[in-house]
Amino acid sequence: TDLAHIRNFSIVAHIDHGKSTLADRLIQSTNTVAERDMKEQLLDAMDIERERGITIKANTVRIDYIARNGEAYVLNLIDTPGHVDFAYEVSRSMRAVEGSLLVVDSTQGVEAQTLANVYQAIDADHEIVPVLNKIDLPAADCDRVAEQIEDVIGIDASEAVQVSAKTGIGIEDTLEAIVHRLPAPQGDRDQPLKAMLVDSWYDPYLGVVVLVRIMDGVLKKGDQIKMMQTGAKYGVDRIGVFRPAMTKVDELGPGEIGFITASIKQVRDTKVGDTITHEKKGAEKPLPGFAPSQPVVFCGLFPVDSAEFEDLRDAIEKLALNDASFSYEMETSAALGFGFRCGFLGLLHLEVIRDRIEREYDIELITTAPSVIYHVYMKDGAMTELHNPADMPDPSTVDHLEEPRIKATILVPDEFLGDVLKLCQDRRGIQLDLTYAGSRAMVVYDLPLNEVVFDFYDRLKSVTKGYASFDYQITDYREDNLVKMQVLVNDEPVDALSTMVHRDRAEMRGRAMCEKLKELIPRHMFKIPIQAAIGGKVIARETLSALRKDVTAKCYGGDATRKKKLLEKQKAGKKKMRQFGKVDIPQEAFISALKMD
Ligand code: GTP
Repeated sequence: TDLAHIRNFSIVAHIDHGKSTLADRLIQSTNTVAERDMKEQLLDAMDIERERGITIKANTVRIDYIARNGEAYVLNLIDTPGHVDFAYEVSRSMRAVEGSLLVVDSTQGVEAQTLANVYQAIDADHEIVPVLNKIDLPAADCDRVAEQIEDVIGIDASEAVQVSAKTGIGIEDTLEAIVHRLPAPQGDRDQPLKAMLVDSWYDPYLGVVVLVRIMDGVLKKGDQIKMMQTGAKYGVDRIGVFRPAMTKVDELGPGEIGFITASIKQVRDTKVGDTITHEKKGAEKPLPGFAPSQPVVFCGLFPVDSAEFEDLRDAIEKLALNDASFSYEMETSAALGFGFRCGFLGLLHLEVIRDRIEREYDIELITTAPSVIYHVYMKDGAMTELHNPADMPDPSTVDHLEEPRIKATILVPDEFLGDVLKLCQDRRGIQLDLTYAGSRAMVVYDLPLNEVVFDFYDRLKSVTKGYASFDYQITDYREDNLVKMQVLVNDEPVDALSTMVHRDRAEMRGRAMCEKLKELIPRHMFKIPIQAAIGGKVIARETLSALRKDVTAKCYGGDATRKKKLLEKQKAGKKKMRQFGKVDIPQEAFISALKMD
């Protein structure tokens, strides 16, 4: 296809504003798929994504459209991941296209997450077409939302397309806007090949599939290619496009988006943002902006049943095949036995992987509290990265610690503003900005990531009744007074409960943890001291009193069915307990103990 008849675009939207429904409509209205093959939400392939209503893997589809002017266009839609954890992946997909549809629910308005993705689109020099969706609903208020788009985002929304992805109103207008308002791609067929590696995933039949955008040159089946960042070389086996089913083509030229397979063994061998060129007569310089994504949040995953360790290893290895951004290494914990220390791009990424292990592999897990990476500067000048509080070196050898800070953007209705400011303040936040757009406030805070990874988002949702939206970016590492806090149960340290805390907040956190554990640990036949300590110094203490004999006696009285039920319940409960010294600690204690409410 000649460049003038290609349009490449992505859709930027907040979760639930209708991105998938609109994409489905665009595909359907152009007969890209036969009606009977049209499955709901074609673009979200995995069940788990559907259930959580999020899109993780970038997907793409090629749409053939005959415009009102009678000319045939090829429209390539790249579906970008909708969550902040995948910011780098989003930025790469954005670089692969020239324009974006900004879908905003006309009954809701702009959200923080939309903002983050719009800024990525603006960074990538996109032409942006605002699309006001859900105009079929009585609560739709296009004028207000268009005004908000202009105020908050600062782009012209006077010609926003009004759409109902559900009923189909405005779909043709959207297609026309793509053709006439978005620029055609540029590129030169006669230059050496430069193709951007936009995404890759593992397919059980084809092996690793690589999504590419050709910038310059032509890519053909059988070509010998080279990845410029990793230096790896391959022969191209297959080449094709998504309609959305994989369809073979002979070649991909400038401006085109498609896939290749090349006997690549693991997703790990492909780096998003890498430049693919020919082995011979290749490009001299790679495309700019390559920066492999790094895990930022770490936690331990342990099987509840230690006999399932090998199964867990298997599950983690399989998941890692398809997800290069997820890292793991074996970990042993005195409290939890054998498990893995895993690194994730963010909290959502962590939750998705954990859920998949539990659901798809049917392994019950104990997840330890998420932690960020600290930079530990030793007295001798060396710096080490600390991924696990349990590995904190002896404080007498440490000069100082640095922690990652973030810039958080929160959009919240006025009425909840006070609570949000308090929450940010409580989490050692520094206010950077506060502006109003209509009846909503936009708050920008500088916060330590370690105060956010755990339950910040849950707290934010609960104090704002779900009305706030939140987005963040890591900005830098900064020194602060951080210490390792240990928890001792029955005088023994429980390594999986160690955390890094700010010195000024240690007493408060320690007390809260001891109180929580006192509630969570069942009473035993003996008294159990629960303590929080920094170094050798106890800073908080609770005592779980011993179980009195007559309480058990009472429980075991009564009729037989009740007794049986009780026994069964205890048995089930036992499975979720971890024996530690002489004390049984329930599985949920390892997470709940750290929650602050
Ligand atoms: P994620 O995939 O979670 O990012 O969400 P999304 O932005 O893709 O939203 P999705 O297309 O799943 O739509 C969210 C909800 O809004 C679904 O229940 C849709 O049926 C509904 N919806 C989408 N478009 C419209 C519309 O034009 N009108 C109405 N009434 N409902 C719509």
